[in-house]
Amino acid sequence: MGTSSKTVFTHKRYDRLAVFYDFLEAPFERYRFANWRSRLADRIVGDSALEVGVGTGKNLPYYPRKVKITAIDFSRRMLERARKRALVLGSMVQLQKMDVQQLAFPDNSFDTVFATFVFCSVPEPVKGLKELKRVCRPNGRHLLLEHMRPSNLLLGRLFDVVNPMVVRMMGANINRRTMDNIKKAGWQILKDEQLAGDIVRWVEAKPPSSRTCLSKDRHDSQIRRK
Ligand SMILES: C[S@@+](CC[C@H](N)C(=O)[O-])C[C@H]1O[C@@H](n2cnc3c(N)ncnc32)[C@H](O)[C@@H]1O
Repeated sequence: MGTSSKTVFTHKRYDRLAVFYDFLEAPFERYRFANWRSRLADRIVGDSALEVGVGTGKNLPYYPRKVKITAIDFSRRMLERARKRALVLGSMVQLQKMDVQQLAFPDNSFDTVFATFVFCSVPEPVKGLKELKRVCRPNGRHLLLEHMRPSNLLLGRLFDVVNPMVVRMMGANINRRTMDNIKKAGWQILKDEQLAGDIVRWVEAKPPSSRTCLSKDRHDSQIRRK
């Protein structure tokens, strides 16, 4: 499968940003983000989990020790930084260069899939969110911390106007309708908590119940055949 020009543009942008990324985000990190990220420690469940768009590894300190975690990013330079952070923290995370729009994992591989501030920059977010659903187990959990387009009419329009400049500079879209994208990808929303107006949100979702039933039917028929 070919790589789109938007995908090439975005990963190059993050390769270029990697060296400044932690510095640029430091004020937000200190006052808000770190606190929001700390929720991951309780909410990542099961034996295995996947983080997509790990970036420089800012979530690593909140990974529960007992869960086997794989983390991917399509920017080699961001991953290098995550690797250094993992070494310092003594984290066992498995880091891999991969595109969330084309995951190399088999179906139903992970109990928890999660991402923080990623789907604003994934070139085809619905495709990426569908891939996450594919690799998430039927009873699994999806955690997302994301900024999104505000619903306020004026503010929304302002975000639309400023967006092309932010994309050019940072690779991130500030006017993504990520809640709509999560639903379009077929996730069933369990929780939608607004953390900074309706711009930054903590979302929890699960694969649709029909898929759980389908898997259960398949499982039952396999048992009957044995
Ligand atoms: C805004 S940064 C957030 C990094 C990190 N999650 C955090 O909370 O600090 C977005 C990250 O997503 C990665 N990313 C964007 N699109 C991706 C894709 N299609 N596949 C894998 N990683 C992607 C970027 O390379 C970048 O590291």
